[in-house]
Amino acid sequence: MALTHSTCPERIADHDPPADKMPGHWLLARMGKRVLRPGGIELTRQLLDQLAIGKGDNVVEFAPGLGVTARMTLRRQPRSYAAIERDRDAAAIVERYLSGPHQRCVLGTAEDTGLPETSASVVYGEAMLSMQPPSVKTRIVAEAARLLSPGGRYGIHELCLVPDNVDQSVRDAIQRDLSDEVHVGVRPLTSAEWRELLDSAGLTVVAEHTAPMHLLEPTRLVRDEGLFRAIRFGWNVARHPVARRRVLAMRSVFRKYHKHLAAIALAAQRRPSAT
Ligand SMILES: C[S@@+](CC[C@H](N)C(=O)[O-])C[C@H]1O[C@@H](n2cnc3c(N)ncnc32)[C@H](O)[C@@H]1O
Repeated sequence: MALTHSTCPERIADHDPPADKMPGHWLLARMGKRVLRPGGIELTRQLLDQLAIGKGDNVVEFAPGLGVTARMTLRRQPRSYAAIERDRDAAAIVERYLSGPHQRCVLGTAEDTGLPETSASVVYGEAMLSMQPPSVKTRIVAEAARLLSPGGRYGIHELCLVPDNVDQSVRDAIQRDLSDEVHVGVRPLTSAEWRELLDSAGLTVVAEHTAPMHLLEPTRLVRDEGLFRAIRFGWNVARHPVARRRVLAMRSVFRKYHKHLAAIALAAQRRPSAT
């Protein structure tokens, strides 16, 4: 059965790929899921609290997706907010939440934002680094460091492999199974590797929070989406055989590797010498 806009309330793209080829996060979004990061809304809250965004901050968000965290940030009334999103339709959704000259969503990539250096006091991005190859991860983190003024804060919320000395064979299997089911190359790092990635860009990690990878577990769905939206998501998935097969396959990969897969949020501070 095709996913049609009339049966799927969350319309992301005008010309979606077929449901069996669509990236997993867009499939979930098309089924009505809004929270697309691995640690859910609770880990996002912890990250935002750690970043302590306030009225004096100039905030840059990488890859806002459907704008869930954007709205949480805007409630904190920062001096300015800029989002960089590479998907045109997602950027249009985020635009709807913005107002005034100091809030904008730029269509572009996080590795090359075009924003002036040291123009931000806070930069963050969720569920967007894990899907990048190593060289792009490095470029995105370097771009965050370039945008931050000295002392500025950077936050990430990503998939994490556990423990730090996880077997290469387990890592390969997770990467392969996730990429097969999510249809996006997924390359999570261990906590030590995420820390090293940030540190090598001149960003000192000051806090770490973790959560289980329960993105598709019923209790997390209700907590993230609210009861009504969670039921609607379940209903939409149940009615579409291709979506149902894919969502169940993604969840079974998350369950299969529950001992080795988690969500991590890191908050870091830019050192004066970062370039
Ligand atoms: C899994 S979704 C996460 C969305 C949102 N951050 C959330 O946590 O709900 C990944 C998002 O990252 C965006 N994205 C991926 N790579 C990007 C890049 N290099 N620059 C900007 N956006 C990117 C995608 O378009 C998509 O909106």
